[in-house]
Amino acid sequence: MDWGMKNRMAQLIQPDGHCLFMPIDHGYFQGPTSKLERPWETVKPLLPYCDAVFCTRGVLRSVIDPASTKPIILRVSGGTSMVGKDLANEGITTSIKEAVRLNASALGMSVFIGSDYEHQTLLNLGRLVDEAEEHGIPVMAVTAVGRELEKRDARYLGLCCRIAAELGARVVKTYWCENFEKVTNGCPVPVVIAGGPKTDSELEVLKFVHDGMQKGAIGVNLGRNIWQNPHPVAMAKAIWAIIHENATAQEAHEVYNEIKSGRRPVTSGV
Ligand code: 5RP
Repeated sequence: MDWGMKNRMAQLIQPDGHCLFMPIDHGYFQGPTSKLERPWETVKPLLPYCDAVFCTRGVLRSVIDPASTKPIILRVSGGTSMVGKDLANEGITTSIKEAVRLNASALGMSVFIGSDYEHQTLLNLGRLVDEAEEHGIPVMAVTAVGRELEKRDARYLGLCCRIAAELGARVVKTYWCENFEKVTNGCPVPVVIAGGPKTDSELEVLKFVHDGMQKGAIGVNLGRNIWQNPHPVAMAKAIWAIIHENATAQEAHEVYNEIKSGRRPVTSGV
């Protein structure tokens, strides 16, 4: 691995081997997602509790302070919308030249395995990896399921992660599922867990993040369950405690409750 690639990977994955990525890319197909109408207002207070921000070039240019040193994972796939025919019909929306100009630490794109656009999105990944590797930029593959959330089981997600890794992704993002070790065991590159739609309780999220970490994930790329929570900083800090401070789900829940109630300053550890 060349110095540039090593340096970018080190910006993303912390010395403890773990990472908390904060995705705010949802607008690229969902439009003004709830709580992301003004992305800067949402993400600014959360920056101390994440290791990188995942966003499109449009949001990066218009709302992220260029003086910020937080690493950026640039979302470079898209071309579909919630109101269009098929979310899987994605292409590459952003050139490698643009990614270099924007000083991206990594690129992120979706693959839709098992969909009508499996072939197209996998070839997109191969091409993106070719170009990104030439510039020392890691690619994070997103194993997307579109609207078919029921697809989230270990057999399917394990297949997706392995294929994305085989095509050259340096990191793979996937959903948590039962028997998550089957997903991580079959994937030769680091796996991060996506959050999915907002759940009913905080503990539910903290439990699956903790379980995923125990079963081989290196971290999360988790958005809505943080910034759609009524207490986003408390939730970010609770997840941070699992990722970087080795907290159990219960301990992280206490962190959440204490910050929420003002009994704990947000800067202290578990
Ligand atoms: C959306 C994405 C998001 O980055 C990913 O789904 C994680 O966010 P959330 O935790 O809200 O699901 O790829 O296109």
